[in-house]
Amino acid sequence: MGAMGVVQGRVRRLGPISFEDYLDIALYEPEAGFYSTGGGAGRHGDFLTSPELGPLFGAVIGRALDAWWSELGEPDPFVVVEAAAGEGSLAAAVLAAAPRCAPALRYLLVERSERMRQRQPARVALEPSSVVLGPRGDEGEDDEDSSTAAGDGPRLASLDDLPAAPFSGVVLANELLDNLPFTLLERSTGGWDEVRVGESTGSGGLVEFLAPAPTTLASLAAELAPDADPGVRIPVQRRAAEWLRKVLRLLRGGRVVVVDYVATTAELASRPQGEWLRTYRSGGPGGHPLDTPGAQDITCEVCVDQLSRVRVPTSNRPQAEFLVAHGLAQLVDEAKDAWLRGAAGGGLEALRARSRIDEAAALTDPSGLGAFRVLEWVTG
Ligand SMILES: C[S@@+](CC[C@H](N)C(=O)[O-])C[C@H]1O[C@@H](n2cnc3c(N)ncnc32)[C@H](O)[C@@H]1O
Repeated sequence: MGAMGVVQGRVRRLGPISFEDYLDIALYEPEAGFYSTGGGAGRHGDFLTSPELGPLFGAVIGRALDAWWSELGEPDPFVVVEAAAGEGSLAAAVLAAAPRCAPALRYLLVERSERMRQRQPARVALEPSSVVLGPRGDEGEDDEDSSTAAGDGPRLASLDDLPAAPFSGVVLANELLDNLPFTLLERSTGGWDEVRVGESTGSGGLVEFLAPAPTTLASLAAELAPDADPGVRIPVQRRAAEWLRKVLRLLRGGRVVVVDYVATTAELASRPQGEWLRTYRSGGPGGHPLDTPGAQDITCEVCVDQLSRVRVPTSNRPQAEFLVAHGLAQLVDEAKDAWLRGAAGGGLEALRARSRIDEAAALTDPSGLGAFRVLEWVTG
């Protein structure tokens, strides 16, 4: 059954469903959701992300990992959890850059979509998570296969969710939080309504219904957007906040690094919904979020003020600034030298250099990926 059928079935049983539940089906319903059926990032995909643009983003992340590893005292193992790892492009680029921390590296690719996880072994060599992380305390018994020795990294494993046991190291999430389902609220004259999704009695298509928001949601909305006029809409991103809370609880020391398009709830309240709640399909904009569930990505700008209620980020800067702080300019200078040396011959090295220069421009373009923000929470 397609995602539309799943939504209709749910609505016929329960009445109009929350926007959050609708998004969960449209994006993640097994065998039917956009990400479950193979939609996603890439040069031939539905949209392009920094890791899918080419290897440069991963090369800079490799340098950043080295810096963070040093700050932590060069632990071995050094655990890096990449949440929303997709088919492994970022992990592959990090390894290709041969970071100094590689011998200590235990890299976990956490990806909800089974379809994406199935594609990862074509990009990186994976081992069972019990081998890479060692036996979990709460699972008892040591067994011979589940130990790794110092200096034998990099070792990688794939998981469908965050590890259960606490660890120290780094959690990275590029464009995860904008894809976590959220609730949609609209300011009414007397308070806040919740946007719910139901079926049109005429066409059987999906339509929005407004219902008074539960008290806790309404009072949260009033705090997040106190000046909103009637008709104004905001997202309430409880799953993103829960994800951050969980990660900060798991992380015994190190940092969480979130890369995404970021705004405040009040900023979103001052802009039309179509600007911050976007859809993508086949490399371009998609249709209305309720059109063709499962066939298009649905994404929302991430509200940093909502994350700050969990914990205020230690730093919040544009992607361009973050990349430059971790060596982007030097990597580009090396590429320019290589291009000048090899351009006349037109060799592969010169071509790689040329594409690195182009990639750097795209990653720092203030009207594109360069406008993303990097939020960091340093803990322990
Ligand atoms: C926009 S894509 C980004 C993929 C990759 N990080 C990139 O930048 O190309 C969002 C990804 O998040 C995954 N995802 C959604 N919820 C998740 C969760 N709770 N844990 C891990 N991955 C999740 C989706 O399946 C999808 O692959």
